[in-house]
Amino acid sequence: MCGIIGYVGDRKVTEVLIKGLKRLEYRGYDSSGIAVFTNDRIEVTKAAGKIAEMETRVAGFDMAGTHGGIGHTRWATHGAPNTTNAHPHRVGDIVLVHNGIIENFREIQEEVFRRGFKPQSETDSEMFAFLVHFEMERGTEFVEAVRKSFLKVQGASSIVVMHEKFPGLIVGVRNGSPLVVGCDGELGGVAMASDVQPLLDYTDRVAFLENGDMAICTAKGIEFLDAASGRRIERPFAKIEWSADRLDKNGYPHYMLKEIHEQSRTIIDTLAAAIGPSSGSLPFEMVNEDGIRAIIDADRVSMVACGTSWHASLLGKYWFERFAGISTDSELASEFRYRSPVLSKRHLVMGVSQSGETADTLAVLQQMKERGVETMAVTNVKGSSIARVVDYPYFMCCGPEIGVASTKAFTGQMLMLYIMANRLQRGAAMSDPTGALMDALVKRHRQTYELPHHLSRVLDDGGATMCALEKAVQDVQHSKGFFFMGRGYSWPLALEGALKLKEIAYVHAEGYAAGELKHGPIAMLEPAITVVVVAPRDQWYEKTISNLQEVKARGARIVALGHAGDEKLAAMADHFVPLPLAEEQLDESLLPFLIAPVLQLFAYRIAVLKGTDVDQPRNLAKSVTVE
Ligand code: G6P
Repeated sequence: MCGIIGYVGDRKVTEVLIKGLKRLEYRGYDSSGIAVFTNDRIEVTKAAGKIAEMETRVAGFDMAGTHGGIGHTRWATHGAPNTTNAHPHRVGDIVLVHNGIIENFREIQEEVFRRGFKPQSETDSEMFAFLVHFEMERGTEFVEAVRKSFLKVQGASSIVVMHEKFPGLIVGVRNGSPLVVGCDGELGGVAMASDVQPLLDYTDRVAFLENGDMAICTAKGIEFLDAASGRRIERPFAKIEWSADRLDKNGYPHYMLKEIHEQSRTIIDTLAAAIGPSSGSLPFEMVNEDGIRAIIDADRVSMVACGTSWHASLLGKYWFERFAGISTDSELASEFRYRSPVLSKRHLVMGVSQSGETADTLAVLQQMKERGVETMAVTNVKGSSIARVVDYPYFMCCGPEIGVASTKAFTGQMLMLYIMANRLQRGAAMSDPTGALMDALVKRHRQTYELPHHLSRVLDDGGATMCALEKAVQDVQHSKGFFFMGRGYSWPLALEGALKLKEIAYVHAEGYAAGELKHGPIAMLEPAITVVVVAPRDQWYEKTISNLQEVKARGARIVALGHAGDEKLAAMADHFVPLPLAEEQLDESLLPFLIAPVLQLFAYRIAVLKGTDVDQPRNLAKSVTVE
């Protein structure tokens, strides 16, 4: 985790660094710091807490004679999130920022102590500065010292280093954690960061460092080296389609709310990206059919993912089984990678990850590649590590997601898996003709597509769904705890609804398959507990209603989400939140796309009422690049 920025050039250095760090704050936000080349020295400023804390310390900083610097926003792994452990770290003339983990840091630390030095911080990162320092003491030149030191560290890391005697030079190395560079198209100069977002203000052409790459950056340009051999290499520059204006809140109080409301659009964009301009015509082919052919050739698919993406993959499993008739598992990447999974002859492993950087998901895909298994990914980030490691990358088209709690990327992942499942449809297990389903998804309803049209009505502030939701939220906000329950497609949604609430409102919440509630958690039910039941009129409806009877008998408060006009459900609930459509208007398999945003908003509203930091909840980070 952690976000790194580096810059050399004529812009106001502190402004570039702080603006860049704010774009990366989703990666970690427990402390931050910058180091800036001034006339003849490097000035380091650090602070615990959000970037705003550090920013106040930088205010009034004399900008004259500055020509580059590095910055860091941290998600603590080694050592508490305080000012001392914040990056940049300094040893002699060497100053650096680091993202990732140096696994052999203890050995380096022993050498540091042996030589009579005392590290200032508890971090593994500072050890790299010692390595470079020791190397230079032996007479090695700076860039070469960074290279040699880099070859000595183990673990996934990216590090950006500067030296007080070489103003205007920053050196980035990558092994695992992402690092991307671009040239300032307007004023000249070079910027480097953990992802493309900080670079979008200066360029739309970037190069992604490969593992084992070094980037030597000066205001004149970038030179790439292969760290192992020290030889010069070329790296291609790719055009980035995201624009900087998608990084603003656009008048919404929080990114999360903006991103929830963007879902009608991201569904259309993802649909268009997946099946191209022929999206109205059926039967359809996907823009990229290679992966589809690979799945058709496979006899089993294992989806691997973490967090919210795992919930999307659980839905993917249901759709793959129902429409494609293919044996599909949905696995937690952190478990899969340390099990002894039995792979079939024609197994295909698919990573689902919005960031494309999650360490556990990436590790599974790397392991599978080594074993010769075909790999695929559904992700939101082109150029991400996962996208580059797999045989068949598929991209949602959600634009940057800044809120740490994933919303539009979740529905984007769901949609990509839904489209694939429909494209794959191949016989026996199929219960619906693909044509009719895709028709429901893409058919035009007045000016918009069918599904986004329904979603806009769900999200309409003055509409029945939102009015009922607000009343429910006001009433249950102080509940002692929450259970979310559902069956079939609504089970992964229940898991996701509970996760959202935990993530941003810090309230205890659990998602349960409705049929499982009686096997334990029912003991906890009482009036101070709220049960949110997801019960649209689908094939599981009657069973869910029976489970709800059991809940009602125990006196818990009930918030029910179902089809408008469902009087049976409404009568059982303290609050009934209607989906504004009739049962026959949309196939049940598409209802998750309407239900997920309602559950996101349920969590959002409770968090706002509780006054938590919705976009940057405590202890979390959006891109989890450590195990
Ligand atoms: C973190 C984020 C979650 C996300 C999970 C997996 O925990 O806070 O929102 O679901 O990582 O991330 P990925 O990028 O692989 O989807």
